[in-house]
Amino acid sequence: MAEEIKAGAVPAHVAIIMDGNGRWAKKKGMPRTFGHKQGCKVVEQTVEDAARLGIRYLTVYAFSTENWKRSEEEVGALMQLFRYYMVRLLQVAVKNNVRVRMIGDRRRFPADIIAGIDRLEQETKDATGMTFVIAVNYGGRDEIRRAAIRYGEDIRAGKAQAGESLTEQDFSAYLDTAGMPDPDLLIRTSGELRLSNFLLWQCAYSEIVITDVLWPDFNKEELLKAIDIYNHRNRRYGGV
Ligand code: FPP
Repeated sequence: MAEEIKAGAVPAHVAIIMDGNGRWAKKKGMPRTFGHKQGCKVVEQTVEDAARLGIRYLTVYAFSTENWKRSEEEVGALMQLFRYYMVRLLQVAVKNNVRVRMIGDRRRFPADIIAGIDRLEQETKDATGMTFVIAVNYGGRDEIRRAAIRYGEDIRAGKAQAGESLTEQDFSAYLDTAGMPDPDLLIRTSGELRLSNFLLWQCAYSEIVITDVLWPDFNKEELLKAIDIYNHRNRRYGGV
């Protein structure tokens, strides 16, 4: 499979909706948080795999603006995992020359997590390899809403012009993903056929690959399979 990928193109930007942690744990008769823990390990491994494959951007959906609705226990456990894995991810990033960037509204997180996010970004900012983007307290609609607010602020400050002259490219610069290419390939694990408010603007022309594999069982082989499917798609961007 790896040889086939070399023959085809490695997508520049792969985005992943990591779904199925809860179901994976339930199947094993374990609490949901056990699934999240295994999910974090898989994130770590996937960062290494993607960086080695030559993917330029890897974006994962770690926590949505809607995930706060989960039980206090589950949200608390996810916060604890973020605390622990932010430190580990820093090591993985440094080892693999990976730059880390967070998208989403981090202001809602506890102060120590915000500080951890800032540190991850700061200490990896000069890396020249893959960019690993973690979406936390992220919602596509919320991102577009915040971008519109920023655009309005720029108009009031005389830094932007109001009206028809605003291009799609101009507006993209107000999104959290400013400066990043749109995802070429969007992978969703655990079989659900939804976007779940992920990268709504950016996925306009992304190729979507859904796998039934639950996120804690995702691995390099699954990543290569998704890339292979992507390589056999005919991207037309609305043309013929
Ligand atoms: C979806 O499974 C998973 C989440 C909502 C959380 C994903 C988070 C991680 C894997 C941790 C990422 C950590 C870092 C540090 C980037 P689900 O709980 O919705 O599963 P279910 O659909 O089976 O219930």
